[in-house]
Amino acid sequence: MLILSSSSEDLCTCSRLLKNGDIVAIPTETVYGLAANALDGDAVKKIFLAKGRPADNPLIIHISDISSFSEYCFPTESAYRLAEKFWPGPLTMILPKKPVVPDIVTAGLSSVAVRMPSHPTAHKIVSLCGFPLAAPSANISGKPSPTRFEHIINDLSQNEYVSAAVNGGNCECGVESTVVSLVSEKPCLLRPGAITVEMLRQVLPDLTVADAVLQRLPKNEKALSPGLMHKHYAPDAETVCLTGSADSALRYIKKRDTGKKTIVICFDGEEDVFSDYFTIPYGSPNKPETLAENVFAALRSADAEKGCELIYVRCAPPEREGLAVYNRLLRASDFTVIDTEECL
Ligand code: TXA
Ligand code: MG
Repeated sequence: MLILSSSSEDLCTCSRLLKNGDIVAIPTETVYGLAANALDGDAVKKIFLAKGRPADNPLIIHISDISSFSEYCFPTESAYRLAEKFWPGPLTMILPKKPVVPDIVTAGLSSVAVRMPSHPTAHKIVSLCGFPLAAPSANISGKPSPTRFEHIINDLSQNEYVSAAVNGGNCECGVESTVVSLVSEKPCLLRPGAITVEMLRQVLPDLTVADAVLQRLPKNEKALSPGLMHKHYAPDAETVCLTGSADSALRYIKKRDTGKKTIVICFDGEEDVFSDYFTIPYGSPNKPETLAENVFAALRSADAEKGCELIYVRCAPPEREGLAVYNRLLRASDFTVIDTEECL
């Protein structure tokens, strides 16, 4: 895997590889993506192989200017209003697809997911290419998304399908883009992100929130977004989310301590409370965007600790930017959230 910087010369190399049908890991403002020419089915296939991604999970295509929006889908009036307010930025819209988008990108669906990233490097790469880039998060399927360049090195440097990776440092949002479907009866939030429900409702007052954002879907129920069905973001070690005060969380942990190597991903300033355990602080619940920025890196660090068997994560309420973090932690823990105030 060739390692590239964000210099003009390296980004030219990156776009040359992408034009050639290769796949490249690139930084975005949300998480690192694994990119291919979205109009080249053979190139897109390599993404699925590299990630071990199920073929029924469609990809997002990334554009760099609004004039190309209608080349790949049929944008509605609401779509243009959302684009005006939130693009470039961490918002993905699901719209009816145009035939030019290969079926492999959309997993055979009649809709396509489109977003315009704000990260200057991602933006430059897409403009240099002159075609849209299909790019899922660059993790191996099911694992926490990569938000630091070292995550890319760890996961992909030996991957035979990945030709290069562009170092863009740390990803600012830390969680994937907000996904809104504009093909359902009412606009519907499928995945929460840095663009919050409250922000979206300023443009779409009738926005609904898909049940799957906060609940496990029954096995036989068809998800609005296939990605909601798959196991996600999970570390190798057993992961349990804890709500309530730090003191009640500590009592909960102590009471069930069976000597397993335990790591506590806590809020900033709580390290002393959990001092009997290895702690990884990941931000402040009063500033949920800090939790978002660090949540995947914290899950990865915990998992990388030698012998780690059990990870507890302090969990903030599912509000504003915290909804995205809660949604990812639900999946990382296989929906194991304990209210420690109630559980003593
Ligand atoms: O922030 C992001 O969106 C990152 C960066 C790299 O741009 N990408 C990303 O892609 O998170 P991925 O593939 O990890 O997540 C895409 C999500 C999946 O849950 C997928 O099922 C959903 O979007 N999706 C894609 N196309 C869809 C469609 N046509 N209808 C419904 N859901 C769709
Ligand atoms: Mg993903």
